[in-house]
Amino acid sequence: MKDIVRQKIGINVDVMDLLNEQISKEAHSAAVYLAMASWCDHNGLTNSAEFFYKQSAEEREHMLKIFNFINDNGGTAYSPEVNNINHEYNSLQEIFETALDQEIQITKSINNIVTRCRKVQDYGSENFLQWFVQEQMEEENQFRRILEMFDLMGTDGIALKFIDERIKHD
Ligand code: FEO
Repeated sequence: MKDIVRQKIGINVDVMDLLNEQISKEAHSAAVYLAMASWCDHNGLTNSAEFFYKQSAEEREHMLKIFNFINDNGGTAYSPEVNNINHEYNSLQEIFETALDQEIQITKSINNIVTRCRKVQDYGSENFLQWFVQEQMEEENQFRRILEMFDLMGTDGIALKFIDERIKHD
């Protein structure tokens, strides 16, 4: 059965399975960032809210990029279920720390798929994933730069307002 499928699709079937898992992870990220945007909105942190609305939209774009890649190459992309979204946070710093942790996990996941691509010589999918490798470096750096502001300025009321004013999505 696998051999028949292999003839019809341009990507390795094991890689396709991992890409479908990645679709779920990107959808989960989009939902997590939307919850973070809501928290920021409710706490009067308008720039941070805007940042996470944009970040959430970007994650949905990432999801669709992979979704279209699978379907364009004869595979089947699966629409993901999203659950277990946390809406409770103690501070803006905690939110950005959580976001960085999430991005580090996504980077590991992308790297893992690239490793699989090389193992099975699926160079088309590897080439497709290079965009994500670059994107992850930029996203991690963006969150690290923001977290540095908390280290420099602290987390009290005035510092928090000051940091929020400086938060902009690239
Ligand atoms: Fe699309 Fe930031 O992972």
